[in-house]
Amino acid sequence: MSTKTKLYEGKAKVLYPTEKPEILLTVYKDDATAFNAQKKGTIKGKGEVNCTVAAALFKSLEKSGIPTHFIDCPSSNQMLVKAVKIIPLEVVVRNIAAGSLSRQTGLKEGAVLDNPLVEYYLKDDDLGDPLLTRDRIFLLNVVTVEQLDILKEMALKINQHLQEFFNRCQITLVDFKLEFGLDQQQSIILADEISPDTCRLWDQNETDEQARVMDKDRFRKDLGAVESAYSQVQSRVLATIDQAN
Ligand code: TMP
Ligand code: ASP
Repeated sequence: MSTKTKLYEGKAKVLYPTEKPEILLTVYKDDATAFNAQKKGTIKGKGEVNCTVAAALFKSLEKSGIPTHFIDCPSSNQMLVKAVKIIPLEVVVRNIAAGSLSRQTGLKEGAVLDNPLVEYYLKDDDLGDPLLTRDRIFLLNVVTVEQLDILKEMALKINQHLQEFFNRCQITLVDFKLEFGLDQQQSIILADEISPDTCRLWDQNETDEQARVMDKDRFRKDLGAVESAYSQVQSRVLATIDQAN
């Protein structure tokens, strides 16, 4: 795959054009950042793990009727995707209190929520991705009322599917972040990635609060053994996909 002029370079991926305007090439990087890029590092093999995990989850979601931008992986850290106009919202779904929800509300980390919580953050690094209210979303004209309803419905359906999938991997899906885009037909489809960078994943075989962490919190909180946790997620996801096929 030729690596010509970049269209866009993000913190974890680089986007390239292809011969077809409706298809883009995403190259997943080993670069890791946290706290709005105030902390920077490298997680060896992360690009490959995240691309492989995201591809497996996108394929599984497609089978259950969720449209995604995924097309194919020409190599282990490269993904061909449908070109979309990204909706500037980070949609976070939470099943268990952790991270900013615990910090901002006092809910104890690990408290199981009665119902999944769907939150919307403005995708804007300069503003530090602020948490939005419904009225602020409409004030900023980010999406219409109908589009927000679709986003919430899709996010909850994705959560249901992923919770079941990760349970089969003996992993608890604590929370995760999604991004959506508008395709050529202006339909909303799932975009970006779903990976240990964008999910909180706890090992159901570990009770220790630090040992159970299998996601980017190992990097954020300097817990060590980041690479082995990422590769463990990849192995379990691939084994679970194989069982289903
Ligand atoms: P938070 O608890 O820090 O708000 O994070 C919620 C979820 O969103 C967690 O699974 C990590 C993910 N996330 C991202 O993917 N990107 C981000 O920039 C942030 C802040 C969180
Ligand atoms: N992805 C975000 C960043 O670097 C934050 C995070 O994942 O913690 O900056």
